[in-house]
Amino acid sequence: MERKKVLEITDLNIFFDISLGTVKAVENVSFNLYEGESLGLVGESGCGKTTTALSTMGMLPDNGYLDNGSILYEDKDIAKNSETDWQLYRWNDISMVFQGAMNALNPVKKISFQIAEAILLHNPGMKDDDVRARIVELFKVVGLDEKRVDDYPHEFSGGMRQRVMIAMALACDPKVLIADEPTTALDVMVQAQIIDLINELRGKMHMSMMIITHDLSIISETCDRIAVMYAGNIVEIGSVRSVIKESKHPYTQKLIAAFPNIYGKKTLIESIPGSPPNLLEPPSGCRFHLRCDKAMDVCKREVPVPIDFGNGHFAACHLLGGHHE
Ligand SMILES: Nc1ncnc2c1ncn2[C@@H]1O[C@H](COP(=O)(O)OP(=O)(O)OP(=O)(O)O)[C@@H](O)[C@H]1O
Ligand SMILES: [Mg+2]
Repeated sequence: MERKKVLEITDLNIFFDISLGTVKAVENVSFNLYEGESLGLVGESGCGKTTTALSTMGMLPDNGYLDNGSILYEDKDIAKNSETDWQLYRWNDISMVFQGAMNALNPVKKISFQIAEAILLHNPGMKDDDVRARIVELFKVVGLDEKRVDDYPHEFSGGMRQRVMIAMALACDPKVLIADEPTTALDVMVQAQIIDLINELRGKMHMSMMIITHDLSIISETCDRIAVMYAGNIVEIGSVRSVIKESKHPYTQKLIAAFPNIYGKKTLIESIPGSPPNLLEPPSGCRFHLRCDKAMDVCKREVPVPIDFGNGHFAACHLLGGHHE
């Protein structure tokens, strides 16, 4: 049976104009998000994860723009949304827990007030009692003690504040929830609790989720599929199991080697030599070729096209396309 697409992103380019030129932050990115699935977006710092996510919320920074591509949400191209369209759609249809936002709660407002604002955004006429009931309900959903709704942010631990951020993102019952680095900056025990919460929400809310992280092990615990980004491109995508167990792209293989223990096997930690390229002038051909120990001549010249390995597993690398030199 054909799975229903909630988001269909095709040939997306997102650029930023800065005084030095144009940063090509995201290029030729295509992927779908299916109903009820959880998709992980992984890659090194600066590879374009947050930028890709912000484009689906209509929240790119002022100097950022779509140079090309479409973002279909339930078959409508939201890349063409006016600001009024975005206001109707944002938080209601797609919602996001921003990277680092748990530290941006307003310190002088009660948690209940801040969640109420999120609820009232799309339910402006809701009665006080109903708002209160909804806050309590959201507290329960994210595993917070309802007696503490009137606390201030400083009275909450990091993990509890992250739960508040998730509650706010769920306030309008979105169809898609994006969580950008939801466990970064939390200690390991609290990370595990947030991962449990994400998995609980997956089970009971029937939402689609996008989990953004640089940590592969978090994706393997919370996602059905995984998209690996390198320097603004998706280099490999597929089910978590096939991408991790049968990774095709040299970058994915290096990324996995850098995270031991994913399936219990202990290996020596290897870091990936070199650093991500400057996106003002991305490398020609395959953007990974400068750091790839298997690079061939063709890798410098031609952008590799994704190759289909079946069951939705794709990887874009010349080595896989029968090129031998
Ligand atoms: N407003 C901006 N102006 C110019 N360049 C930007 C802007 N925002 C992001 N970029 C650049 O776009 C690229 C992608 O950034 P993005 O924040 O999406 O990466 P990321 O994968 O989320 O990284 P991280 O893991 O550090 O959060 C980076 O090279 C970044 O420097
Ligand atoms: Mg980011």
